[in-house]
Amino acid sequence: MIQPQHMPVKFKHPGSYQKMCHLVASNIKDLVKGKGGKEYHNRPVIGLATGTTPLGVYEELKKMKNTNFSDTYTINVDEYIGLEPEFNARLKGKEGYGFPQHPKSYYHYMTEHLFRDINFKRSFFPGESQTDTFDSLIAAMGGIDIQILGIGTNGHIGFNEPGTSRDSLTHVVDLTESTIKDNSRFFDTINDVPKRAITMGIESIMRAKRIYLLAQGKHKKDIFDKAFKGEITPDVPASYLQEHSDCTVMYCD
Ligand code: GLP
Repeated sequence: MIQPQHMPVKFKHPGSYQKMCHLVASNIKDLVKGKGGKEYHNRPVIGLATGTTPLGVYEELKKMKNTNFSDTYTINVDEYIGLEPEFNARLKGKEGYGFPQHPKSYYHYMTEHLFRDINFKRSFFPGESQTDTFDSLIAAMGGIDIQILGIGTNGHIGFNEPGTSRDSLTHVVDLTESTIKDNSRFFDTINDVPKRAITMGIESIMRAKRIYLLAQGKHKKDIFDKAFKGEITPDVPASYLQEHSDCTVMYCD
């Protein structure tokens, strides 16, 4: 018999958004409680994503008052490029100039939704000057134990847009028109949405030991089915996850 090259993605049908988020958060809790130690590479490392879908997971984590996250590292999958200088330019001469977090940055988003309430050991974001070093940083930490992902309506994961190659590492991307349009809901006007971003690549993401991809809402159903029930293709970057040995994907209305 021909042995399969990889384990198929696992489909879970949690039944509700809250259950889906609870399931992921419980797995993170188990990891954090079971792993630890003084050594850098023995500490738990969680890969985080922005967007609205993982917010419920972050709410569940915040409820876990008996879990100590102070030895846990977090790595965010992506960040916009171009917000900071603009923001600083606008503020120049005014109080707050030099404030490091643009309110629309993913760093700020994560601070508001998670880091304000949970005291992680340290949290990392890719930056434009780190394309060559971000993957080595992750490797030095022993790799990502659990990576959380959402999915864009065009099938992107992180900011890996359609056409991204399977072997890509952390890199700078030009965002597609559809992503700019989708993400304009977070900005005052579509013109305020950055045109570029930095993202962990497909290979960077595939190196995570375990992955949970969450999708919510009828507008995600088609792309979810294409990504995980269709062929593996660069046109739908999330479909590469079918090759991962421990990837669970979940959809709910
Ligand atoms: C953004 C992020 C992705 C996220 C996607 C979906 O483009 N870069 O990491 O998965 O949006 O977001 P949402 O969960 O809000 O639909």
